Amino acid sequence: MTGVPAHVAIIMDGNGRWAREHGLPRTMGHRKGVERIHPVALACAQRGIQYLTLYAFSTENWRRPRAEVAALLRLLGTMIDDEAQTCLRDNIRLRLVGSVDRLSPALQQKVEAAVSLNAGNTGLTLCLAFDYGSRDELVRAARALVAEAVTPEDVTEEAISRNLFTAGMPDVDLLIRCGGELRLSNFLMWQSAYAELHFTDVLWPDFGEQELDAALAAFAARSRRFGGVDGGGGR
Ligand code: IPE
Ligand code: IPE
Ligand code: MG
Repeated sequence: MTGVPAHVAIIMDGNGRWAREHGLPRTMGHRKGVERIHPVALACAQRGIQYLTLYAFSTENWRRPRAEVAALLRLLGTMIDDEAQTCLRDNIRLRLVGSVDRLSPALQQKVEAAVSLNAGNTGLTLCLAFDYGSRDELVRAARALVAEAVTPEDVTEEAISRNLFTAGMPDVDLLIRCGGELRLSNFLMWQSAYAELHFTDVLWPDFGEQELDAALAAFAARSRRFGGVDGGGGR
């Protein structure tokens, strides 16, 4: 038995299909999806999870039609404003993983303000992955090490981890993907090296406590060996 995961990561997929099923434009699916974020974060906090990382926009999502990208950026802006207040109320620490470089200066400021407003909170860390891609993150880490002029011996797993967007966070214990696809789509590949994977067909706008509890129950029943054997290490 594995207990409660410290770090849960969710690939919030299926907004477009949810919208289509309801005869609505894709943007409405994204809007519904954003509404799920805070309730799911609260449910995680109540269950003793310490870190929740949510995949909101990938480095590949810039390939979507311009109007959809614009709508997603607008949604990030309103969501960040709302979360800044609700997180303060609920003692949730807010963090962003991913690059802010391609966000407008106004949006960057919003993000910074929301993060610093909630930096002192002591509950769940809600980590939003926006303009995030594992490959981009690893390239940035490599560049940072080169810029520090580290010696080859100093290129260690710790040195790389320290230079990722997730620096200081524990590895992912449980990775959930909703929306039915069975792939990682460039999400937390380094951090999920030993994550337990859980896939569900439920679309993100329909994801709630029931799906979370099903994933947590499946996780608790797993045997995590990390390359060793059941019952611990040694010979
Ligand atoms: C996930 O939903 C949200 C983002 C990737 C921004 P999708 O928009 O990918 O929804 P589907 O997969 O088309 O249903
Ligand atoms: C992954 O979903 C990214 C997010 C949920 C933000 P996508 O819908 O972009 O993934 P693919 O394109 O199906 O792999
Ligand atoms: Mg998708």
